[in-house]
Amino acid sequence: MKIALIGFGNVGRGFVDLLTTRREALAADDGFAPQVTAIITTRGAALDSEGVDLSRDIVFAPHPNPVDAAIAGADVIVELTPTEAQTGGAGLQHCRKALSAGKHVVTANKGPLVVAYRELAALAKANGAQFRFEGTVMGGTPAMVLGLETLAAAGVRSVRGIVNGTTNFILSQMEAGGSYADALATAQTMGYAEADPTGDVEGWDAAAKAVILANTMMGGDLRVNDVDREGITGITAEMIDEAKAEGQRWKLIAQVIRHGHGVAASVRPTRIPLTDPLALVGGGMNALTFTTEAIGEVTLMGAGAGGKATGFAILTDVLKIHRSLQTA
Ligand code: HSE
Repeated sequence: MKIALIGFGNVGRGFVDLLTTRREALAADDGFAPQVTAIITTRGAALDSEGVDLSRDIVFAPHPNPVDAAIAGADVIVELTPTEAQTGGAGLQHCRKALSAGKHVVTANKGPLVVAYRELAALAKANGAQFRFEGTVMGGTPAMVLGLETLAAAGVRSVRGIVNGTTNFILSQMEAGGSYADALATAQTMGYAEADPTGDVEGWDAAAKAVILANTMMGGDLRVNDVDREGITGITAEMIDEAKAEGQRWKLIAQVIRHGHGVAASVRPTRIPLTDPLALVGGGMNALTFTTEAIGEVTLMGAGAGGKATGFAILTDVLKIHRSLQTA
C-alpha cells in the first residue's frame, strides 16, 4: 500500500512515528508493509515512489503541483490539513479529488465531513473507494466504529458526551485550583488545543464533532451553525466551587438527539452530578454515552486529542483498508 500524507502537523507526525515503531508488528501480524510515497507540508513536499525514508530527517522541497502528484502516486490519501468548518477548506478539495480518482481517503480533518459528508460518502461509493474518518471524533478512541458499525443494529437514539480535550483539561485544572490562562497554555503545549484555541473554548470544535456524529450516525444534514452552541469562557472559579460544594462538576457537554424525522445537536457547559459516568472523565480525556433502543446506554472513554492518539486513529483506518483489500 502506498500512502500519501497531505498535511504534516502533530497528527501526521504521530502517525509516521507509529508506522515506524509498529512496523515489525504490522508486518508480522497482518502482512502489512505500507510505504509513505508523499508527505506534503506548507514548506514543501517529500515525494518518493519507492517510499520516503522515515528513519532520517525528511527533506521537503518545492514542487509545482504536489497534491496531484501525491494523489496520482498513492493508493490511500491521508488528509490532515487544518480544519476549516465553514467551507471545508483545502481539505474538502483534496478529499473530492482523491475520491473522484478512486483513491481511498483517511482523514482526521473535520472540515470535509461537517460541510460535505453526504457528497463525499456518495463520491466514495460511486468510485469504489473507502472514506474513513475515525480520528475526527475522540481521536484514537474508536467512537466512529462503535457508533457506525458495532452499535448500528442497536438503534442509536442519542449520543451525549465530552468531545473536546482542551476544554475538559481546562475545567479539570480550574477545579484543582489552577487558572484558566495557565491551563490553556498547558493544553497548547500538550498538543490538545487547535492552532487558534478560540475554536476549542467557544465550543466550535465540539460543535463540529456533534455535526459529524449527527450526520454520519443519525442521518442528519446539519452544519456547524445549526448547533445550539456555548463555550466555557463564561465559567468562573466561583461557579466551579459552587458546583463542587453541591456534589456536581461543570463539563462541556455535546449532545445529539433524534427527534421525529430530524436530529438536533447542542454543545453547552452543563453541571452534572458526580454519579454520572461523564463526571469521571478528567484532563484531556473524552467520553461518549450512546443511548440505544436495544441495549440501553453504552459509554466509551479514552484519549480524544493529541498527535499520538489521533495518529493511532489514522493507522486504524489504514489497517482496516488493508484488511478489507486482503479479503476482497
Ligand atoms: N482541539 C481538539 C481537542 C483536538 O481539544 O479535543 C482534537 O480534535
